[in-house]
Amino acid sequence: MLKRSASLALALSVVIFGVPTQANDGGVLVLGGTGQLGIEIVKDLVEAGEKVTVLVRPTSNRDKLAGLDVTTAVGDILSDADMEKVFTSVPYRVVIDASGQANGGDQTYYEKSQLVISKWAAAGKVAQIILHGAVGAGDSAHMMIMENVPEYQRVSIGSKSKAEDILKGSGVAYTIIRHLTLLPVETKESGRARLTTNQMTVGAVTRDGLARLTIGCLNNPACFNMTFHAVDDDVILSGRYETMWARYRTVLKPYVFEARDQPRKMD
Ligand SMILES: NC(=O)c1ccc[n+]([C@@H]2O[C@H](COP(=O)([O-])OP(=O)(O)OC[C@H]3O[C@@H](n4cnc5c(N)ncnc54)[C@H](OP(=O)(O)O)[C@@H]3O)[C@@H](O)[C@H]2O)c1
Repeated sequence: MLKRSASLALALSVVIFGVPTQANDGGVLVLGGTGQLGIEIVKDLVEAGEKVTVLVRPTSNRDKLAGLDVTTAVGDILSDADMEKVFTSVPYRVVIDASGQANGGDQTYYEKSQLVISKWAAAGKVAQIILHGAVGAGDSAHMMIMENVPEYQRVSIGSKSKAEDILKGSGVAYTIIRHLTLLPVETKESGRARLTTNQMTVGAVTRDGLARLTIGCLNNPACFNMTFHAVDDDVILSGRYETMWARYRTVLKPYVFEARDQPRKMD
């Protein structure tokens, strides 16, 4: 409840003080809004009073959307024709991309999907795209010991790098929010989840924390054409995540840990 109130206040402040909404405002389109991260974002947007459209596939399970004041648009992100229809039917102000593929899915999805999303968002004069990405993508690749990263993650990180480049070249104001470890939905944020431009800031973050941070970037010029890392230093880790830092030692370069000794000073 505290989190929702805080996110509401933050969202209202950016709606009031952020970029003026367009006269013909189709609201916010959420891609991946039936997913675990996406639904948290959708709920926060609804609470903030936004006009929300969730993209669903014909096969999507819509149970989590029940009772929420949202519109749905049907289509597959990888279908150029579907996305043309979605983006030319409604003048969306902001697109939030929380879509993704589970382990086992096509991990080159991210570049393929962003080609379609960026193209039609630009054509539809969308004012901002917020993309959820991965630490290790783009200019954060130097931090990783890639040969130690499992194959499917290596492919997905590479694809997310390409997706970042495609988005940056679209001409639409972008906000890239990278995460390293996304915690299970049952784990709730500490209240201190944050975005930083300091790449040495790594760790875990919850889906509800990410949703709050996403809403804070909505229409917010401070987030335009920016790439952030999201982290919750104070979240309580449990289960297999308790050994997360030992795993990080195998996939992150030693200098990340040296820099991380003073994380607050470096932010
Ligand atoms: N760093 C980490 O530890 C970590 C861990 C997990 C995820 N992630 C990343 O975080 C983001 C969200 O993850 P999540 O676990 O919350 O996602 P999720 O629950 O797997 O949901 C994925 C969403 O994407 C949608 N989607 C996939 N392909 C689509 C397509 N072709 N057309 C339309 N929609 C499509 C799915 O729709 P349907 O409902 O139709 O399937 C679903 O809504 C992703 O970028 C993911 O890679 C990071």
